[in-house]
Amino acid sequence: MKSLKSRELLERAEASLVGGVNSPVRAFRSVGGDPLIVERASGAHIWDVDGREYIDFIGSWGALILGHAQPAIVAAIRDQAVRGTSYGITTELEIELAERVKRAIPSVEKIRFVSSGTEATMSAVRLARGFTKRDLILKFDGCYHGHADSFLSEAGSGLATLRIASSAGVPDALAAMTLSVPYNNLASVEKTFAAHSNKIAAVIVEPVAANMGVVLPAPGFLEELRNITRRTGTLLIFDEVITGFRLCYGGAQSLYKIEPDLTTFGKIIGGGLPVAAYGGRAEIMNHVAPLGAVYQAGTLSGNPLAMRAGIEVLRLLEAPKFYEDLNARAEKFMKGMRGSVQESGIAAQVSSIGTLATIFFASQPISDYASAKRSNTRRYAAFFRAMLERGILLAPSQFEALFVSAAHSDADLQRMLVATKESLKAIAALPE
Ligand SMILES: Cc1ncc(COP(=O)(O)O)c(C=O)c1O
Repeated sequence: MKSLKSRELLERAEASLVGGVNSPVRAFRSVGGDPLIVERASGAHIWDVDGREYIDFIGSWGALILGHAQPAIVAAIRDQAVRGTSYGITTELEIELAERVKRAIPSVEKIRFVSSGTEATMSAVRLARGFTKRDLILKFDGCYHGHADSFLSEAGSGLATLRIASSAGVPDALAAMTLSVPYNNLASVEKTFAAHSNKIAAVIVEPVAANMGVVLPAPGFLEELRNITRRTGTLLIFDEVITGFRLCYGGAQSLYKIEPDLTTFGKIIGGGLPVAAYGGRAEIMNHVAPLGAVYQAGTLSGNPLAMRAGIEVLRLLEAPKFYEDLNARAEKFMKGMRGSVQESGIAAQVSSIGTLATIFFASQPISDYASAKRSNTRRYAAFFRAMLERGILLAPSQFEALFVSAAHSDADLQRMLVATKESLKAIAALPE
């Protein structure tokens, strides 16, 4: 039962915001119940307007690897705010953040900062088209690359949650320029390249898919994408908006030892402020205006508040053994999750890598969008609600990830494991 405050705010939200939200999955449509209205957050904990406390495993959809309101990041933002919040003119901060990203990710020789992941992927694709002078792009079913027109066919994240195959408002002629094939299916990639030889500008891929739930690349999948794209003069774009600075400091490309031509970033590099970026080989990036003919610009691009937050977060992530320790803790936690699932006897799979995971309510391992979609989303919804009742906030959709952050204490993770056991037991009693 919601209190007056929450109820009243939900009503006001629905009267003024579309669906009561500013991004569709926040509306809790696929899990039922009233969406949360947040008042504040600190570390791994978040409070709603009724003062209820939750351990947060959404972490601003992966942006907050250090948790909410990390003191050093807050101090940096405060310090910058009094110097001015936006100039629309270059600062040393942008140069410093660019240099830090380049040091972390050697495939990035030049970078352009933007304000959202959507802007980054949209711009990277425009650049790939301008550079190769080709029009088609190849993506994978269930991968999500933001909401630009080119990416809204068979996309993951909110489209998967709401079961939307493609968005209204995208002209057919434009949609036809995006080819989408099953993730981890190299035969389909080869077939598509054979059918469209020398017409594909770029292959864009989440090197670890996290928007149909977490799906790992099959051994050899990314390597073969690199081989095929190299052979055909197609650019390989790694969308590391989630995996960048998440799996390890060098992102998925360092973990899997593959150099893409272009990379997109977002989430973590902004330390919780709106920053994203695209970058890659200088030879390609130099085609962006003002050096080249591919136009892309932004009033708030390289925003100083966001740059300060980004610099601070990367500085903290450079601490010795940061990823080693965090991933080791996450690994132990995931083992506990798998144990709980096994014990429960419920058909479910914990798909995880490092601090990134999804519990799929499915009887078989998940390798692509088709298998992800076979999950029992009603069971996920019941699980989500049982967890929420126990003070654990998960993503309100089967087709998203849960994120462990450095702010989760051992006690937080232990509470999550206990809640998981209890919730699985509670939902096992429900009809499938
Ligand atoms: C892999 C990936 N690419 C792009 C985006 C789009 O980023 P944004 O929501 O900042 O536009 C997302 C968002 O979740 C994402 O997960």
